[in-house]
Amino acid sequence: MASKCFVVAVAVSFTVTLIEAARLPSDWGRCHRTDPDFEGCLRQNIEDAIQKLKNGSPELGLSTFDPLDIPQLVIGEGKGTVNVAQHFNDLQLHGLTGSKVISSSVDFKNKKIYARSVTPYLRLQGHYTMKGRILLLPIVGDGQCNITLINTKINHTLTAEEKIKKGKVFWTFKEYTITLEPEMMSYNFDNLFDGEQALGDNINKVLNENWSEVFADVREGYEKGIGAIFHNLANRVFSIVPLDEIYLQ
Ligand SMILES: *[C@@H]1O[C@H](CO)[C@@H](O)[C@H](O)[C@H]1NC(C)=O
Ligand SMILES: *[C@@H]1O[C@H](CO)[C@@H](O)[C@H](O)[C@H]1NC(C)=O
Ligand SMILES: *[C@@H]1O[C@H](CO)[C@@H](O)[C@H](O)[C@H]1NC(C)=O
Repeated sequence: MASKCFVVAVAVSFTVTLIEAARLPSDWGRCHRTDPDFEGCLRQNIEDAIQKLKNGSPELGLSTFDPLDIPQLVIGEGKGTVNVAQHFNDLQLHGLTGSKVISSSVDFKNKKIYARSVTPYLRLQGHYTMKGRILLLPIVGDGQCNITLINTKINHTLTAEEKIKKGKVFWTFKEYTITLEPEMMSYNFDNLFDGEQALGDNINKVLNENWSEVFADVREGYEKGIGAIFHNLANRVFSIVPLDEIYLQ
């Protein structure tokens, strides 16, 4: 059995103002490393910061965050039932700012950050093209789509390296990996089969009835794609704000 080549590509763009160094926005909470409840403080402050990012943050050079614009995302073929690459462009990711942080911790010695979160409602909306087979059924389409993930548990693992700029310590992340576990998922692909409505409705129905099997096969693609988006966001903040400004000594 030939193993399928697994490809994922993602591009994220923000309307960014280039900022060399910044402080965290003044209304974001800070945590002291010596706080006996450092992890509780982190959990609360990260969650608050995500909500405050809803309208972007001029201080950090970030434009709007919800929806987040994603120019391009490719979810590669799976190894089982999904024999099609899903090409997306002009996507908007809705719902990130509703995320709840369940726990977060920092391992300063090994430069790692761990977090667990739940996002109640996450929707990828935009343009797709695909041509191949899913669950053995032919699928071909080019149009608008929605992919909705409900109550998605996400585990985050960030690995940093230290950079010293003008005597200050910064962290930039060389890796940001996530694992995703949605409680439910739904697909809506418009204009399948050149707009053959009945066929298209039927395929959407089969995809939705079998979402779990479909997702399991391309889960890694979603994890890489969404992980790359988070990676980019985290580096935007950490690469311009000194570590001491984020975690007080
Ligand atoms: C996607 O969902 C939005 C919001 O519910 C809706 O306005 C839009 O028409 C949907 N598009 C498709 C292709 O399902
Ligand atoms: C996150 O990690 C915990 C603890 O290792 C595990 O029980 C849980 O299943 C993981 N969740 C996801 C979404 O991978
Ligand atoms: C999809 O799920 C339905 C309902 O669970 C099942 O009857 C059907 O066999 C599945 N379809 C495919 C193509 O796997």
